[in-house]
This record gives sequence, C-alpha cells and structure tokens, in this order.
Amino acid sequence: MSSISIRSLQTMKEQQQKFAVLTAYDATFAQLAADAGVEVLLVGDSLGMVLQGRDSTLPVSVTDMAYHTACVARGNAKATRPALIMTDLPFMSYGTLEQGLASAREVMQAGAHMVKVEGDDWLVPLVETLARQGVPVCAHLGLTPQSVNKFGGYRVQGRDEAKATAMIEHAVALANAGADLILLECVPSELAARITAAVTVPVIGIGAGSDTDAQVLVMHDMLGLNTGHTPKFVKNFMIDGRNVQDAFKAYAEAVRAGEFPAPEHGFSA
Ligand code: KIV
Ligand code: NA
Repeated sequence: MSSISIRSLQTMKEQQQKFAVLTAYDATFAQLAADAGVEVLLVGDSLGMVLQGRDSTLPVSVTDMAYHTACVARGNAKATRPALIMTDLPFMSYGTLEQGLASAREVMQAGAHMVKVEGDDWLVPLVETLARQGVPVCAHLGLTPQSVNKFGGYRVQGRDEAKATAMIEHAVALANAGADLILLECVPSELAARITAAVTVPVIGIGAGSDTDAQVLVMHDMLGLNTGHTPKFVKNFMIDGRNVQDAFKAYAEAVRAGEFPAPEHGFSA
C-alpha cells in the first residue's frame, strides 16, 4: 500500500471518510500506530509534557522536535502503510517569516511531511510563504496551548458568537492562504461543525465534537497513561484486555466508524 499524503486526506474529506491522527514521538510506537491504520502521526510539542515532564509546551525547542521527528520517521518507514508525519513548530519558533522558514526546514529535513503552527489569521503570511516553498501546513486554532499564559489556563475557546464568527473567518482565511489542514482544539462541537463545513480542507478535532473530518488524541491519554487530570475529550482504548496494537486499531476504527468521539466527549457553546 502506498503511503498517506495530503492528497489522500483531501480525497477522504471529499468522500466523507473520517481519518485518525495520533501523536507519536518514537520509532516503535510510530510503526505500530501506522500499522494499526492511523493515517497521520503527529509529532506534537505535547512531548514537552508527556516525555519531558514539563508543565507546558513552552520550553520545547526546534532541536527537540527534529530529534523526535527523525525517530518517528525511521519507525514509520518500516510500516506496511506509512502514515503522514506532521510535526509541531514549537513556541516562538515561527514569530517571524525567517524563523518560521528555518524551523520548518529543520523538521522537514528530519523527516516531517508537514508542519503545524498555532494561531489565527496572523499566520496567513507564514502559511502562504511555506506553501510556496513546498511545505504543507496545518493551522491549529481554538485552544492553542502555546498561548496558555495569554488565555489564563487551558479553556474552551469560541464560546461566544463574536469569537465563534472570528474563528470561522480565520479558518477560511488560513485555508485560502494555502493551509492543507485545520486543527481545532477545545471548541464547542457546533462551532467545529460550522468550520468543517466552511472549508474544503480536512479539519481535525480534539475536544471539538464528532462532526470534524478527523480526530486526534495524545497517545498516552488513549492508552490510559494519564498521570494527572483526564480531559473530558479523552477516551481510554486500552481496555478489555487489549494490547497496545489492539488499542491503536480500536481507536482508528472507532474514529473511522464515527463512534469516537461520542457526544459526551464534546463541549457545548
Ligand atoms: O502537541 C500535541 O499533541 C497537539 C495535539 C494535542 C493536537 O498539538
Ligand atoms: Na501541539
């Protein structure tokens, strides 16, 4: 089977076929997740928390991201059907176009197929420039954890109509600028459905209800390896005597079948 590309994901959206995204930070889990049918491996800056034990994603460096991307790329290459590798550009590594290009080069040369950046329409020039340089981009909106200090905590975003309307406009502007994917974190399910209908590119959700084109979870969370507070949108798939491979398969299948997330995993406005 040929590997997953942004074209495969676009086709899946057009055919209303949902796909699964899972974080991966090393070779073994990357290969197992790809072999379980996960379409996109996200080398998330959540590694700052789940691997490095920090209390936010802010201290993560581009070098950290490139290292884990290279590990994931090696494992993924051994999978029967390699996944698409998407890597986060970390906090303050894309504040200017020049920084953004340098950071993207580092992670793309380490093995990423696309980058993810957090923000709203201020990202438009960066997305346009990266697209022209051949770098696919996912724009992450809603609860963007790199802005936790500005938000004053990890809170659901877009709950009032003015903020919801602005988020729809930002998503459309970013897709028009050349973003190939949109990711929505912790936004009301109804707003996520409106954004998914408003853009032609696939929309990935986490804490964004069941109407997005795809879902993402942090691997540790879906394996029940949560050490602190378990967010409402998390489901533990490591149940019923499953091993890790079975849990990955169950997650990918539940997303594809539209069984995960269920209404109780989402937020209201
Ligand atoms: O870093 C990460 O794992 C993420 C997902 C939670 C979307 O950005
Ligand atoms: Na992230």
